[in-house]
Amino acid sequence: MPELNLEPQHLCASADLKECEGSVTFDVLEFGRVASAFAVRFDNQALGYLNRCAHVPAEMDWQPGEFWDQDRRFIICAVHGALYDPPNGLCVMGPCRGKKLIPVRLEEKGGQVYWYPDDQFQPVF
Ligand code: FES
Repeated sequence: MPELNLEPQHLCASADLKECEGSVTFDVLEFGRVASAFAVRFDNQALGYLNRCAHVPAEMDWQPGEFWDQDRRFIICAVHGALYDPPNGLCVMGPCRGKKLIPVRLEEKGGQVYWYPDDQFQPVF
């Protein structure tokens, strides 16, 4: 079995994540398969999730990299309109109410955002 890479992966500058606006998208290897993920900022926290709805395993952005609902309060799934609370990824309205998005751990250091690989998510080479 290959060794896990646990080195923080540079994602973007902190300034690239704007409060409740846009996102930074990136790919991860999830158990060896490429999966799409995204980062947003809410309440000044950088938050990362897999781009996969908890209802049906579909990507959620309504335009590439656009995940915010009209009021910029929730992450919305473009397929059936599920709303997710950004800080914890909990679906608060929609067909998967009570389920959660899958988090990808992010941290900010020195004005930069990093994502942290683990035994589920590894960097794409
Ligand atoms: S696939 Fe997201 S709400 Fe149905």
